[in-house]
Amino acid sequence: MKIAIIGIGYVGLVSAACFATWGHEAVGVDKDTGKIAALRLGRLPIYEPGLDQLIAGAVETGNLSFTTDTATAVAAADIVMIAVGTPPRLRDGEADLAFVYAAAKEIAASITGLTVVVTKSTVPVGTGDEIERIIGRARPDARFAVASNPEFLREGCAVADFQKPDRVVLGADDRRAQELLQAVYEPLRRVGVPIVTTRRRTAELIKYAANAFLAVKISYINEMADLCESVGADVREVALGMGLDHRIGAGCLNAGPGYGGSCFPKDTLALLRTSQDHGVPLRIIQESIVANDARKRRMALKVIDALGGDADGRSVAILGLTFKPETDDMREAPSIPLIEALQRAGLKIRAHDPQGMENARALLDDVEFFDDAYECASGADGVVLMTDWACLKSLDLERLSRVVRKPTLIDFRHAFDPAEVRKHGFALTSIGVAPDTQIKTTIRPHSPVLHALRHSPVMESN
Ligand code: UGA
Repeated sequence: MKIAIIGIGYVGLVSAACFATWGHEAVGVDKDTGKIAALRLGRLPIYEPGLDQLIAGAVETGNLSFTTDTATAVAAADIVMIAVGTPPRLRDGEADLAFVYAAAKEIAASITGLTVVVTKSTVPVGTGDEIERIIGRARPDARFAVASNPEFLREGCAVADFQKPDRVVLGADDRRAQELLQAVYEPLRRVGVPIVTTRRRTAELIKYAANAFLAVKISYINEMADLCESVGADVREVALGMGLDHRIGAGCLNAGPGYGGSCFPKDTLALLRTSQDHGVPLRIIQESIVANDARKRRMALKVIDALGGDADGRSVAILGLTFKPETDDMREAPSIPLIEALQRAGLKIRAHDPQGMENARALLDDVEFFDDAYECASGADGVVLMTDWACLKSLDLERLSRVVRKPTLIDFRHAFDPAEVRKHGFALTSIGVAPDTQIKTTIRPHSPVLHALRHSPVMESN
């Protein structure tokens, strides 16, 4: 199958590479000449584990190429996938579809033969209808159908998620479009991946409903974490006890400083706008958005409390800046409101991230950045573990305790074993664990029970 993918961001790049490895002829199209030139030299615009090798291999086989020439790529394609960005509009949070509709117009100009136009970007319900209108108006002669194939991959494990998804959703009102898409995903169907075939509007909604549900689940466990701190319970054990119920599932039950990234915050807001447009209240999602925003801001208080309530003139080391590990993405990262609030309180910020510092520099003012975590912590009055990168979780606490000015550790990700932390003289603050239960808990981050759970299929799918 010949597939043109318009928009070489996270989703576009990973999709193009994976389709090519399944034997399809994939061409990635982007207007950014610098990006395409770099890709042709094997340089990726994003950090995503395993993607560089996958792309190099696919380019080598001749199944994957990159171009800025939309017309030629579209003319040759059986399937054109739109994977451009849909950022939230500043004025109302609604998904900005300008790039999607611009792509539809360009596609219309170059379609030849029967072509299926597919939205892979996350787009509000009804976007497919509008794309159909745009192409139909511009090219009444064209033979085409519009379908929806939402993508569920996560940053940081995008390649594995794409190649081994929990399910594939194919939304098309046209039988030929449905058949062509099923042929694209045949390699996954053959290995037992469930393929959900549905109408286009339903597929568009499934993506939002799934992301919003996961966001609500995170907000739920985060609120439980607050309650745990007050009643003397341990949120990790609560999550374990809840998650083993297969109706609940263990995924998205890690309490933390609030969800971030380019998807949950944007998609929950866009879904809320859709619901308001249709006069259908989505109160649970609305509350989750409010709770998450408030939580991100409130985390600064935890840090200041841990420092004894006195922030002025002190310095704190923030370890991990990206919204999650294994990515350089800083979009909606909880570290941003945390740092801004700490600065307002008078703290000096030292920061380190294994991959995200270049992006962080563009977003944060008056922060001193360090390539080395120990250097970052050197002389600090407190250390905040913000993102659970493996290399940060395995820091040498003994060495850390020697370089800090005051041994205060705020662990927002349950990255460290509390007993180990205390053994090295640190005062520990974490999430969802009352101070008097922090030592007594029976579930340690490195316990075999938690390890097994983290690597169980349910957890992996999170
Ligand atoms: C999310 C969804 O998980 C993907 O299925 C979806 O395809 C993607 O959005 C998208 O719409 O493109 P992603 O944003 O890459 O993926 O990252 P997640 O791993 O879901 O994490 C999102 C945020 O939630 C992070 O800030 C993370 O730290 C937080 N989180 C996640 C928690 O606080 N607790 C958890 O248990 C899980």
